[in-house]
Amino acid sequence: MIVLGIETSCDETAVALLRHDKRRWTLLSNKIASQEEIHTPYGGIVPELASRRHIEILRPMVEKTLEEANTPLNKIDGISVTHAPGLVGSLLVGLSFAKSLALGLQIPFIGVSHLEGHLNAPFLEHPGIPYPHIALVVSGGHTALYWVKQFGTYQFLGGTRDDAAGEAFDKTAKLLGLGYPGGPAIDRLAKEGNPRAIKFPRPKLPDYDFSFSGLKTAVRKVIEGKNGQPTQDHQLLMDLCASFQEAVIDHLTQKTMLAAKKKQVKAVLLTGGVACNSRLKEKLSESCRRATLKFFHPSPLFCTDNAAMIAYTGGHYLLQGKSSPMNLNALASLDLKNVKGAYGSCC
Ligand code: KG4
Ligand code: ZN
Repeated sequence: MIVLGIETSCDETAVALLRHDKRRWTLLSNKIASQEEIHTPYGGIVPELASRRHIEILRPMVEKTLEEANTPLNKIDGISVTHAPGLVGSLLVGLSFAKSLALGLQIPFIGVSHLEGHLNAPFLEHPGIPYPHIALVVSGGHTALYWVKQFGTYQFLGGTRDDAAGEAFDKTAKLLGLGYPGGPAIDRLAKEGNPRAIKFPRPKLPDYDFSFSGLKTAVRKVIEGKNGQPTQDHQLLMDLCASFQEAVIDHLTQKTMLAAKKKQVKAVLLTGGVACNSRLKEKLSESCRRATLKFFHPSPLFCTDNAAMIAYTGGHYLLQGKSSPMNLNALASLDLKNVKGAYGSCC
């Protein structure tokens, strides 16, 4: 079976082709077009510009993906597309494209949750990840812990009460005058700073709840002490980045390890755009090693938004004979709380 994956939920246009053969998944082609330079001048994503760009480049990208994999259109057996959550205008571009192509080719399509895609992204490179496991999804839109019992069964344990971790990185970077997206910039500068230079608070919340907005405010207070402007003091900037990042990572690591211990799993997964963060990987990996737990995370290419994870997730449901109806809608928000089975298959 060959699955075409399409992802346009935010500001990346992504297309992938995945083959399932003899119980193995092989990625035939994977393309991502970033819109970073379109949105950078605005310091954040402009939804209208994002959807217009998806319209312009989605079709040529699909053609390029097929060409690169040496696969003609009529060899595709099914299409998997992100239909939620995300920017509705952006989602509609990918979803409408997928529906039209499925109709034209007389093949099934399935709408999957972007979040479920991230939860499965580590499997693209590590097919033997054991179940049950704890998965920490950290991106620009989400921060959540799941107890994953098997493919398609995700028990939500807890999430952020305010900003997502990636959002906190982005907003803090903006305060520091570091541009958008801020995560990679903070990660880079933090390597030269002292994580103990500034004592930022560690949020104290029950169970598996997270909070990051207080940290962002704490950074603002330090900046305001310096006339409210991004600091010109390079050492202070690096120390601020390192101290802020350490506080975020301590919070994420502590809750993840608590979940792994309480649920007595054998493995921990880290996924989503913030999973690119070098210090977060280092710290979680070390904590898992001490607790004799296996630790998995995707390569940076599969941490941030990509269509391979969407093709992989939808591909599983297509293999089970499931598909979505033509009236499937795009949804801005969608909870994956205690979901059994694909959202795409039960709508
Ligand atoms: O998963 P993703 O590509 O898009 C969403 O679904 O949101 O995640 C993007 C987020 C952004 O907030 C970005 O700042 C963050 O991931 N990010 C990082 C790093 N690389 C990307 N955050 C911290 N450290 C990084 N190295
Ligand atoms: Zn994402």
